[in-house]
Amino acid sequence: MNESVKVNRNRVRNFDRNLFEMPAQVFDLGRGKRFFIHTYGCQANVRDGETLAGMLTNMGFEEAGDVREADLVIFNTCAIRKAAEDHVFGEIGNLKHEKESHPERIYALCGCMAQMPAVVERIRKTYPQIDLVFGTHNLDRFPYLLQEFMEKRERTFAVESTPGSVVEQLPVQRSSRYKAFVNIMYGCDKFCTYCIVPYTRGRERSRMLDDIIAEVQAFKASGGKEVTLLGQNVNAYGKDLGMEDGFTALLEAVADTGIDRIRFYSSHPRDYTVSSIEAMRQRPNIMNALHLPVQSGSNSVLKRMNRGYTIERYYELFDDMKRRIPGMAFTTDLIVGFPDETDEEFEDTLKLVDHCRFDLAYTFIFSPREGTPAAGFEDRIPMRVKKERLNLLNERISDYAHEKNQKEIGRELIVLCDGASKKNPDTFSGYSEENKLVNFTGENIREGDFVRVKITEAKSYTLDGEAVAVL
Ligand code: SAM
Ligand code: SF4
Ligand code: F3S
Repeated sequence: MNESVKVNRNRVRNFDRNLFEMPAQVFDLGRGKRFFIHTYGCQANVRDGETLAGMLTNMGFEEAGDVREADLVIFNTCAIRKAAEDHVFGEIGNLKHEKESHPERIYALCGCMAQMPAVVERIRKTYPQIDLVFGTHNLDRFPYLLQEFMEKRERTFAVESTPGSVVEQLPVQRSSRYKAFVNIMYGCDKFCTYCIVPYTRGRERSRMLDDIIAEVQAFKASGGKEVTLLGQNVNAYGKDLGMEDGFTALLEAVADTGIDRIRFYSSHPRDYTVSSIEAMRQRPNIMNALHLPVQSGSNSVLKRMNRGYTIERYYELFDDMKRRIPGMAFTTDLIVGFPDETDEEFEDTLKLVDHCRFDLAYTFIFSPREGTPAAGFEDRIPMRVKKERLNLLNERISDYAHEKNQKEIGRELIVLCDGASKKNPDTFSGYSEENKLVNFTGENIREGDFVRVKITEAKSYTLDGEAVAVL
């Protein structure tokens, strides 16, 4: 670890730290076979999907372009809301007939749903078409589990509830050559009363700083341009390693690698430090875009959610950041219809939106998750009212986002090109430094190019423009 990083040895928490090694006996297991991964949920799951793809490629499997061509299908699941779970149950329910016509095809299920005992029990009893279930804590054991299943063809359930470990040198097959998700920590210790993540992902545990830097350096050396540092609460990075203000130290070390763009996701107001905002201000390769979930504008709701800050503290942070970095783009997450949320409490959330005028906000209706405290809270608010509140909130957010984007018309933004736009193959798309999705026209542009784009039109959540120069 960098010598300038301050470490408090009394605060160090020990987790198992292991190096992944591909067992020699699995190297040829996938020869002539193809895999398909359905990934649901957040970036943590996307990154896990890339690890699974890396393992499978090392085992000789090839990625199938279509699920019907696959010999192995993996459902990498999310449990954050009931709708996410229901969707997966619908998908795996539809497989009954598929399994009858293709009995040799292997179906596996992993991710956060696989860490929930009730879900695992339901799969065991009602979904015999699922052959292999493994939890987030067993990701590194996947090659062994698959080998065992392929040899014995016996249904396998590898799900454990542990504090979690940190495993290095996991293989990876990234979905982009230019943009990478880099895990900096796993799990979450915050125990917000509505949230399932601490139960599905284990305790908060950080990777060693040197391992993270080595991953960023290797990605940069292979032509990579942008990294997004991942954690449920990146501001707590290094606390378990006894680091004081570890996230700022990490941000600076990643900035020193010279990678073109650095983003991070997600931040928690509780652990935010002024020094990390200063690092953002001083280092041009740390992008001025911040996702700072607030969840509610009401102190009483924040308390029932166990968020650990008041709305005054959030305003203080927000205003301080805006003062230090006036061009910073802000996004957030909001929950409406938390148990017994009153009209006044909801009004406070609208006031918050009026104050912050977010560039974008992800809004959700509270979904009770079995095993979390809020699932047992009394809730007398009808779903109809919750939906009305959600609509009202979304309209307000969209109006501000549109108003903000209008101001971009005529400006030139630097966009990292992701390739041809999905909706219109004659145009390109990519994200600006402020993380705005920009669709643009131009010539001789390739994926991975930095392009100066003049903005000509603005919608609430996207911008249109014309390429001025490839940088
Ligand atoms: N760790 C991040 C944080 O605390 O800001 C967020 C992680 S979570 C994957 C993403 C978002 O899902 C949360 O910010 C919250 O708004 C939403 N969410 C989590 N649990 C939920 C629930 N039970 N019902 C509705 N939304 C939920
Ligand atoms: Fe869930 Fe709260 Fe942890 Fe975010 S900080 S993952 S909302 S428990
Ligand atoms: Fe879903 Fe698990 Fe992420 S519950 S949002 S995939 S951490």
